[in-house]
Amino acid sequence: MTDAKTYKGMDTNFQGLPLTPERIAPHVRGDVQMYWKEHTGSTNDDAKKWAALGAQGPAVCVAEVQLSGKGRLGRGWNSQISQAIEMSLMLRPHVPAQVGAGLGLAAALGVSRAIEKVTGLQAGVKWPNDIIVNRRKICGILIESAVSSGLLDFIVIGIGVNVNQTSFPEELKHVATSVALETGQPMDRAPLAGAIIESVIGSVYDYFDRGYDGIRKEYERRSTVLGRTVDVTTNEGIVTGKCVGFGALGEILVSVVSGTNRYSANDVSVREARDV
Ligand code: BTN
Repeated sequence: MTDAKTYKGMDTNFQGLPLTPERIAPHVRGDVQMYWKEHTGSTNDDAKKWAALGAQGPAVCVAEVQLSGKGRLGRGWNSQISQAIEMSLMLRPHVPAQVGAGLGLAAALGVSRAIEKVTGLQAGVKWPNDIIVNRRKICGILIESAVSSGLLDFIVIGIGVNVNQTSFPEELKHVATSVALETGQPMDRAPLAGAIIESVIGSVYDYFDRGYDGIRKEYERRSTVLGRTVDVTTNEGIVTGKCVGFGALGEILVSVVSGTNRYSANDVSVREARDV
């Protein structure tokens, strides 16, 4: 059993209580294997290792702190010990590999629903899979997968939610927020982590069953960029246009003078254009 005494040096209130399987499991219906580490490099790498060793999904790797947390497009992920939810959900869906491209949208929908349900905060989604509260990022998602014979062998959905941070490093302080900063009070991470696990499994399987149509309505309702003028950063430079929708494989559709461009989440980043 896990109890606070096992984790000397951490706070004894719930903010410092580790986010262990024993504390998350009561908030998750269904059978989900969970692995916990106090510190690790990246929970996505841990989940990929478990998958390679034959773990069957759903499985979740959780850590109190990541020493080399990974973000999208080769970026890093800031990690403050025991303040956030840093976990990776591994699933083995056995669907055609190309379906994986839209997964980020489904995962973002699942996380935003759970954040809203548990905290009462209004959670928007910035394409492809950032969760936004009051114009600041509260959660980032990094999806990795392995393909075998044209099917997804496993997928890893890495989720970083800012929960109890009350400050951020200089470079993030104008763009990041946390549940505590938004609600004005710290919260126990365990019920939120459990709700996210359940909700993401639900939204991802809705997407696998019905494709983008299974999530379109709510994803678009929550979108912070749909109908807005955006700057798309590509390898060739910045393209400015209006976001007019999303494609069946999770692409963003951007209307420019010459027509409608389609960009994949693996290739570009997007932000709302200023001064338009
Ligand atoms: C992004 O917004 O760039 C994605 C950030 C994803 C961070 C999470 S934290 C848990 C998991 N492990 C990682 O190394 N990254 C993801």
